[in-house]
Amino acid sequence: MTSPLSELAELSGQFDTEAAEVSDAAAWDALRIRWLGRKQGIVRQRLAAFKQVPPEERRDYGQAVNALKGKVEGALEEIEARLAAAAAPAEAAALDVTLPGRKPMLGSIHPVSRVAAEVVDIFNGLGYSVAEGPEIEDDYYNFEALNFPPDHPARDTQDTFFLSDGRLLRTHTSPVQIRTMKARRPPIRILCLGKTFRHDNDLRHSPMFHQVEGLAVAEGITFGHLKGTLDAFLKRLFGPETAVRLRPSYFPFTEPSAEVDITCTFCGGDGCQVCSQTGWMEILGAGMVDPRVLAECGIDPGRYSGFAFGMGLDRVAMNRYGIPNIRILFDNDERLLRQVKR
Ligand code: PHE
Repeated sequence: MTSPLSELAELSGQFDTEAAEVSDAAAWDALRIRWLGRKQGIVRQRLAAFKQVPPEERRDYGQAVNALKGKVEGALEEIEARLAAAAAPAEAAALDVTLPGRKPMLGSIHPVSRVAAEVVDIFNGLGYSVAEGPEIEDDYYNFEALNFPPDHPARDTQDTFFLSDGRLLRTHTSPVQIRTMKARRPPIRILCLGKTFRHDNDLRHSPMFHQVEGLAVAEGITFGHLKGTLDAFLKRLFGPETAVRLRPSYFPFTEPSAEVDITCTFCGGDGCQVCSQTGWMEILGAGMVDPRVLAECGIDPGRYSGFAFGMGLDRVAMNRYGIPNIRILFDNDERLLRQVKR
């Protein structure tokens, strides 16, 4: 029969063997619980066994148990330190300072803003300055002063969003013509860009879209000036090989009025699906400012004349970047920005 004391000596040897095998934090934890656990730990059990030891052996036994406890605690601390030291170089390796840095995503300019900036740049070169106006307008500026009489069918073309107080979301940038002509005397050369709104929603129409509008008023302005300006502008925007054609049209605020086409940007004029085999794409509306509009703004139509044109910026961006659905422009999907970044 083994005595409690020699049993302790055996346990001490056993601990050494087990401790030598510990190579990671999990094994270290298991060893700690097995030996120092508060309820079932071997050291704890040995301390509790004190009462069964014959009185004459208790002194030696007590010392031996405490020695074992001290040894286990010391060894566990040592192993823990050794494991931590071994892990440290691995952590240092995880922080490899020679790796190339992570690149932050760079922003880029939205296709509509890009086209807008180009248009502004072209017209700055022709002596135009940018004018602004409100997106919420009165009936007067959006319609009446532009020679849309009340209940005139031309208003139907404008698919207007009305506010409950009778005001409306501007359906085009033309009210800025009126505001500018009322505030300034000729010669006037302005460009107005901004958001416009119509109750319209399909692949090529969105309830919010962007227009740019040009207005020139001075003595002696003719239709020839309009044509020359549009030709120069559209060749700069779409390329020197672009042909420009004007077709008679109607707008209440211009007389005569024209729809302006350019050679199809997809097929170069050969005819394709996009241009319905015509080789042409409608790009803007234009005309000579109606004398009634000039008079309404206090400009003498006997002395002054002017031209105006309006174009959708979203369409241009769609054509330019091959975007098939106008909603892609407003989805805030950053893949679009990455694709059109040049
Ligand atoms: N404001 C017109 C529209 O949106 C476009 C236009 C502007 C036509 C200027 C002629 C002159 O329908």
